[in-house]
Amino acid sequence: MSTITLDTVKKIKTLNNIAEGGLNVFQKDTFMVDNVCENPDAIMVRSFNMHSMEFGHQLKAIARAGAGVNNIPVDKCTEQGIVVFNTPGANANAVKEMVLASLMASSRNLFAGVSWTKTLEGEGEQVPQLVEAGKKQFAGKEIKGKTLGVIGLGAIGALVANDAIALDMDVIGFDPFISVDTAWNLSRNVQRALTIEELFASADYITVHTPLTDDTRGMFNQATFSMMKPGVHILNFSRGELVNETDMETALESGIVGQYITDFPNENVLKMKNTVCTPHIGASTKESEENCAIMAGRQIRDFLQTGNIKNS
Ligand code: MLT
Repeated sequence: MSTITLDTVKKIKTLNNIAEGGLNVFQKDTFMVDNVCENPDAIMVRSFNMHSMEFGHQLKAIARAGAGVNNIPVDKCTEQGIVVFNTPGANANAVKEMVLASLMASSRNLFAGVSWTKTLEGEGEQVPQLVEAGKKQFAGKEIKGKTLGVIGLGAIGALVANDAIALDMDVIGFDPFISVDTAWNLSRNVQRALTIEELFASADYITVHTPLTDDTRGMFNQATFSMMKPGVHILNFSRGELVNETDMETALESGIVGQYITDFPNENVLKMKNTVCTPHIGASTKESEENCAIMAGRQIRDFLQTGNIKNS
């Protein structure tokens, strides 16, 4: 009988699915392979950083219950013949909803307005007057008729692009690797930029949905900011490392970037002005976690039972 371990993915359905497939399943919140079971055949992981781990000879597969695989040493796995799966599309709807909610909320200064209004507690009869002052301070912009640039038109980017059209935005997308399948899934109203510069020059809002690779690391930097419309809002629900933080701070100070909305705050980002930060919750919904867990569970089960490698 094969054995798999799971870390943070604890969905009953997944466990049942795998158990039905005749596999032993071990799970633990704090993930220590040696403590959980010896020599698992496969590991399912969400956020645990696996770069410093040594893998036993028996390990055949790692499934990431999520889109990005940057917490997994893919090259090392390839060298050792360990198959790495991810779960493309399984959390796309969750991220899309988060992006669109943040797009509208940031454009209407909702986050800042809510926090500020809460500080009026204790002001007694002054509250209505103070509210009037806030009304001016937090006046926002409508997204209708504005241009949204979507970088990366994979599962998440395509959903964001299509739904932004329904919100009356003009949408321009860029993806040098777009697949035919994705192209068919895109609304005909999504304009395709031939170069990323074209997107930068026309977007009022930019949302990025690319994996973190050597090519995309730091893609938001002084040079690219200088191609953008002044006051552009940038939404990053992909990976923090896509942004050069020193250059972002300068761009926010000068107003080239009007707002930076990110799911990947750190000490530097938290200090910057005009940032809206969330704690990496773009894909954190009950539905998406279940979808990812089920997809990853099936991938492992099928692979261990039949040798079939299907990354979907
Ligand atoms: C992903 O890679 O799928 C996302 O970052 C979601 C997550 O891991 O929380």
